[in-house]
Amino acid sequence: MELVTLRDILPRAQREHYAVGAFNFNGYEDAAGIQLGAEQARSPVILMASQGACQYIGLYETVGIVQGLAKHSKVPVCLHLDHATDCDFIKEAIRAGFSSVMIDASAKEYEANIRESKAIAGFARDYNCSVEAELGKVGGKEDNVVVEDRTAAFTVPSDVPRYVEETGIDALAIAFGSVHGFYKSEPKLDFDRLEAVLKLTSCPIVLHGGTGIPIADIQRCISMGLAKVNVGTELKAAFSNTLRRMCAELPAEEFDPRKFLKPVKAAAAAIVRDKLEAFGSAGKA
Ligand code: 13P
Repeated sequence: MELVTLRDILPRAQREHYAVGAFNFNGYEDAAGIQLGAEQARSPVILMASQGACQYIGLYETVGIVQGLAKHSKVPVCLHLDHATDCDFIKEAIRAGFSSVMIDASAKEYEANIRESKAIAGFARDYNCSVEAELGKVGGKEDNVVVEDRTAAFTVPSDVPRYVEETGIDALAIAFGSVHGFYKSEPKLDFDRLEAVLKLTSCPIVLHGGTGIPIADIQRCISMGLAKVNVGTELKAAFSNTLRRMCAELPAEEFDPRKFLKPVKAAAAAIVRDKLEAFGSAGKA
């Protein structure tokens, strides 16, 4: 199967009131685990690589891994560049074969954010690549993008319609209480703000910082119309913890990398399968 775009999977999710899970990966093992979990759940899936992950794996290598996973996949797979701030890098990723990108110009003021996001949406159109952008600032740390919690600014709903209209984006990340990384205190989502945004636009809305938010809260957002949920840190933690456990459990004379890494893939698959079931997208492939 060819890689799909957000346009191929999010509008149906909106119509049928489920959300598609988007999961960060940093190498082959977790990418393969994510795809496996989606197959087990028979759900479409979005594999996300941050700019830093692409630099670590290699841009063309990142595309190669996910195109390879998609080739025999029984479920639709989207390869999405997550939180990229460098427009030249985004264009290179689009040329390299990403089927979706996020331009994160949320640190810029409103007009500059519109200009930059619109330019990327225009460029991506020629490559049949979808574009997500961000309005408001999601707090926490996501790779090279750091937003102090106290300065994180929630999205102003009345800013949304013109932003969506002028940029021509396919999905919009909004800030309404979630943060990237582990929560330092109980997350408190501003459901009224989400509802106000959903009333003002038909553009698919994205929740960032999915790790650590109670599933019931995420399901409430999905029932209101949220279409994409990002999860990253939980997979990173599962990767490292599983690897640590395997190093402790396997005998000292064991040297086959697959013995260490197969459980890593399985751990990612289990998380992804559970999330996709919770998001209502299981069986929607
Ligand atoms: P978490 O790492 O908090 O799950 O957030 C992931 C994310 O939103 C990636 O864009």
